[in-house]
Amino acid sequence: MNVHHIGYLCKNIGRAKRSFETLGYRAETETVRDDIRKIDICFLIKDGYRIELISPAAEDSVVSGLIRKIGNSPYHICYVSDDFEADIETLKQNGYIMIDRPTPAPALGGRRVVFFIHMHAGMIELLDGNGETEL
Ligand code: NI
Repeated sequence: MNVHHIGYLCKNIGRAKRSFETLGYRAETETVRDDIRKIDICFLIKDGYRIELISPAAEDSVVSGLIRKIGNSPYHICYVSDDFEADIETLKQNGYIMIDRPTPAPALGGRRVVFFIHMHAGMIELLDGNGETEL
């Protein structure tokens, strides 16, 4: 499982994007609205490191509770899976608790993603990549 991106929670995606551009990141995508999760997303890249900026698009978005707790902050690492179902099983057998169901992610070409929490490793995201590490 290769690292695909680091998810970064932000209250204002436009301002966060400009702040990262100051550090030398460039936008890899336009900002996309995910209506399922009620969030806005864009991807930035620098030196081969990809960051996903996520901001709430509604009061009841999937990240609204978390952003009240931790503010502007990195909060998950996403891994690309070559064998989605098998990797989900392996993670579940090793203390990773699935916190949602595999769902298509509009910002990632409709590929499925699923989130897990581990008591020692925090939150991770698994992306059904079929070996594809590009966006
Ligand atoms: Ni992510």
